[in-house]
Amino acid sequence: MKMQKMMALVLAGTMTLAMSSSFVMAAGETEAVKAAGKVVMTTNAEFEPFEYKDGDEIVGIDREIADKIAEKLGVELEISDIAFSSLIPSLNAGKADFIAAGMTATDERRKNVDFSKDYFNASQTIIVRTDSDIKGREDLNGKVVGVQEGTTGDVYCTNEDGSSDIAVKEVRRFSKGMDAVSDLLSGRLDAVVIDDFPAQKLVEKNPDKIMTLEEAMTEETYAIAVPLGSDLVDVINEVIDELNESGEMDQIVSKYISVSEDDASADSAA
Ligand code: ARG
Repeated sequence: MKMQKMMALVLAGTMTLAMSSSFVMAAGETEAVKAAGKVVMTTNAEFEPFEYKDGDEIVGIDREIADKIAEKLGVELEISDIAFSSLIPSLNAGKADFIAAGMTATDERRKNVDFSKDYFNASQTIIVRTDSDIKGREDLNGKVVGVQEGTTGDVYCTNEDGSSDIAVKEVRRFSKGMDAVSDLLSGRLDAVVIDDFPAQKLVEKNPDKIMTLEEAMTEETYAIAVPLGSDLVDVINEVIDELNESGEMDQIVSKYISVSEDDASADSAA
């Protein structure tokens, strides 16, 4: 009897130990990344100046921040380039360690991911043809608007929860902002709604045909996403702090965005 009781105690003890050690392993994303020798970033490289392709390479502001994260961890950076709307599912399926994609930290997304500190301030912007009768946000009422699927611009224009006073006629969703702009140029769309700096880059490619409107429609901040509870967020926050304090963040941003606009960085605006 006594022996049995002791055995049971030992067994219970072993089980508790096994459970707690597997818990520690599951919580140690940073250690796991270091052991693997690589960190996987997932993004949607259709978003100049934050991530876009230069030949075979993915470049841009987020890429440079990701390089610093990999450097801090002492590992290789691997990049997976997928559709924007697949980023969070892919992260949560364990296919990546973090998302760096000019992603706005929204409460809705916070249900499924943890966000780092903000690193950039942004807003949704309207692109129209230069001869358009759309002069501001309210002129979008009854219009056909193109957005990048699954983005905050999509949510804003679709207005499912009725929180916006704008009722567009139709929202057309594209996997690339560039494709939406083609449809705007050809007259199939009345306007495109997309983040401010990507909008500028798209307009720069067709300056005499399209333009952005002054009015900013939303206030958003970009942050890097990790799976809920991932301790990698601490390393990412450290990197963001270091880049801000050393002035490197501003240097990175001004490589891609003309100097007059670099006050959009979350740090200098704070
Ligand atoms: N900021 C917007 C959002 O979070 C758009 C981001 C699009 N990013 C991209 N890499 N395509 O919804």
